[in-house]
Amino acid sequence: MARHLRSLRDLNADECARLLELAADIKAAPQKYASALAGKSIAMIFAKQSTRTRISFEVGIHQLGGQALALSTGGGTGMQMGRGETTHDTAKVLSRFVHGIVIRTFAQSQVEGLAEHGSVPVINALTDLYHPCQGLADLQTIREHFGDTRGRRLVYVGAGNNVAHSLMLAGPRAGMDVVVACPTELPPNAHVLLQAQADAAEYGTKVGVETDVERAVEGADVIYTDTWVSMGEEEEAKRLIQILRPYQVNEALMAKTGTKSIFMHCLPAHRNDEVTDAVMDGAQSVVFDQAENRLHAQKALLALLMEAAPWS
Ligand code: CP
Repeated sequence: MARHLRSLRDLNADECARLLELAADIKAAPQKYASALAGKSIAMIFAKQSTRTRISFEVGIHQLGGQALALSTGGGTGMQMGRGETTHDTAKVLSRFVHGIVIRTFAQSQVEGLAEHGSVPVINALTDLYHPCQGLADLQTIREHFGDTRGRRLVYVGAGNNVAHSLMLAGPRAGMDVVVACPTELPPNAHVLLQAQADAAEYGTKVGVETDVERAVEGADVIYTDTWVSMGEEEEAKRLIQILRPYQVNEALMAKTGTKSIFMHCLPAHRNDEVTDAVMDGAQSVVFDQAENRLHAQKALLALLMEAAPWS
């Protein structure tokens, strides 16, 4: 039975710790893993734009000795999915050709469908609901910076979106508290919040929502934000920007956290909207370490899901 990463709920805390340990080893000694995916082909389906995810997966699969097939769903060279071939049939066909599927798409149900009907590991490379690969790289970055994720408090500032949802699920698995500081109009998904709070209760951490951003950031170890207008929300941009303007991460907000906190952003950033240049380029910013860690964390994920490295 193939293992998947549909959301971070596919990993328990021990598996998450193992993945982070492996990611650190891969980062330190990549040559040790140069044949991990030898003879394996991975289909990478992108129905939305990407810089970090697509390039880090493609380079990572190459570095592991495998073959990456970068596929789109639109245009003259796109997959038939873009013309209505079902998820069921796509899953069955791809499972005859490749050893794993990475997909960035809109509906979470498409990721679930590929995992249900195919026979190879499926990795969610972002949907409207989750961004679990980003969450893993974020944990690796926090672990590197503080030496351990446990006992840390992360405050996500902005709309309750896919990145926020994955951080809400990542936190409990890594022993961290997570607060989503968001306007009342843009809360996280209620079902995901319930899931995250159940996980937090199981692992002895907290996940909460706070509308008062200044109160939320007090004493935070990590301040995290994301674009105010996610992919697919362009028609709503004006309304979202107006609602989210009081949630900008700037020097005054960072000052409320103390000097030992770090600033994180999944990128791409819209400079001087959700975050100012001074914070993005400031001493507390780890955004480019975070981007680099997409490569290492995903290589660890691929090695584990493709059974090229043991889970324990
Ligand atoms: N953070 C992230 O997923 O970046 P891309 O959209 O460029 O892949």
